[in-house]
Amino acid sequence: MTATFKARMIVDKAFRIAEVDNRIYGSFIEHLGRAVYGGIYEPGHQTADADGFRQDVRQLVRDLNVPIIRYPGGNFVSSYHWEDGVGPVGERPRRLELAWRTIETNEVGLNEFAGWAKGAGAEVMMAVNLGTRGIAEACQLLEYANHPGGTHWSDLRIKHGFAEPHRFKTWCLGNEMDGPWQVGHKTAEEYGRLAAETARAMRLIDPDIELVACGSSNSSMPTFPQWEATTLEHTYDAVDYISLHQYYGNRDQDTANYLALSLDMDRFIRTVIATCDYVQAKKRSKKRIQLSFDEWNVWFHSNDADRRIEPWSIAPPQLEDVYTFEDALLVGSMLVSFLRHADRVRMACLAQLVNVIAPIMTENGGRSWKQTIYYPYLHASRYGRGVSLQPVVDSPKYDAKDFTDVPYLDSAVVYCEEEEALTIFAVNRHLTEGLSLECDLRSFEDFAVIEHLTLTHDDLKAVNTAGEERVKPQTLTGAVLDAGRLTARLPQASWNVLRLAKRSAEAR
Ligand code: AHR
Repeated sequence: MTATFKARMIVDKAFRIAEVDNRIYGSFIEHLGRAVYGGIYEPGHQTADADGFRQDVRQLVRDLNVPIIRYPGGNFVSSYHWEDGVGPVGERPRRLELAWRTIETNEVGLNEFAGWAKGAGAEVMMAVNLGTRGIAEACQLLEYANHPGGTHWSDLRIKHGFAEPHRFKTWCLGNEMDGPWQVGHKTAEEYGRLAAETARAMRLIDPDIELVACGSSNSSMPTFPQWEATTLEHTYDAVDYISLHQYYGNRDQDTANYLALSLDMDRFIRTVIATCDYVQAKKRSKKRIQLSFDEWNVWFHSNDADRRIEPWSIAPPQLEDVYTFEDALLVGSMLVSFLRHADRVRMACLAQLVNVIAPIMTENGGRSWKQTIYYPYLHASRYGRGVSLQPVVDSPKYDAKDFTDVPYLDSAVVYCEEEEALTIFAVNRHLTEGLSLECDLRSFEDFAVIEHLTLTHDDLKAVNTAGEERVKPQTLTGAVLDAGRLTARLPQASWNVLRLAKRSAEAR
């Protein structure tokens, strides 16, 4: 590796952005493709538990330490009847599923999913159908899930074998209602009114819930950001979060431009914050709306294959992107972007978790395996808990097709006071040159480097498969902290995790 490029950073304990909300490491399971059937659930698989859930998959999810999982959709939720998925499995109807044009068998529903999520160590972020349904059905679902008992819907849950309420705390008021593809798509006025009234009614049933209003489906929607402004005008007092969704792809095979797309994500987040605060100002409100980035990822590899899927099949392989090494770099930068905005992005869901645009893949009846993007997600979830610190970065820059002044070094820093651990996440966007990093760690003089993990590969298009893990983290030597000055070399095109911890008293 040559290291002719230099970047400098200053990191100080006092440069606090905010305590990271661990829920930014959330994910998403939709009834779509092989996410549920053939993904987390495969009765008859050699690792299946008594309920039919694959234990190998659950272990991979547990390893990721996913705090919250959005369910059951996505576009799916907009024509879903949650009642179809509860009660005796043999009596559950098969339905035409309108979002993805498949057949939903309803073998798995909210009770089974809640049990699975608990076993995986995650909370459930539940979504209600505001496409084909409305206030009454959302309230009935909430009563079924969260009310202790003594009423029609809560007693039905008890009859179904779940004496204890699930106590789902976080609820999404529909999904991507701005999108013309959404079943029951609405204007911002229509959605804002419905979301506000649904939120108010739901809070009467359970005042402890947190509610997420739908923001735009992505930053290129023609109605963005007016959608957010109008929706919040109606819902400001009734909700806690506004959602953001964004997927990227390297469609033009222009990697320099592709890796700069997290700048677009930063801009998207800043615009949504500005819109929330504009409505706050108009309403003379003390309350602040927070951001739930509850769908984000790379999604484009499977687009053509998905167009060829015959309608009305059961759990076909849909949205099965196989991720390259360069996709993992962008995913790393998207995680960095969340940490940079830790004061306002309080939840985020990597979309999705298993088989469908996912870090975890399965073979039907066979192995489970990790995609390239599994690793930055794992590292951020494992080491990115604590206080997000604002690094002052001085990096060489480049111009790409859609962006100017793109820093080669993209970095976020998290300090965990409790464990006296400091982690620097860093992407080197340079495709041909290593970056020599010099970091002034003035307030961490008594720390030492304990590990430098890197994800790098000569082939930007390298992928993992069930049989071969070509892209996986390696440990690099050479990073040193001396008298408060850290030096490290970041390989060309790489994701890096520099882990430091306080030296023990004897070592000092
Ligand atoms: O995650 C896949 C789909 O992307 C979701 O169902 C939808 O909300 C979004 O458009």
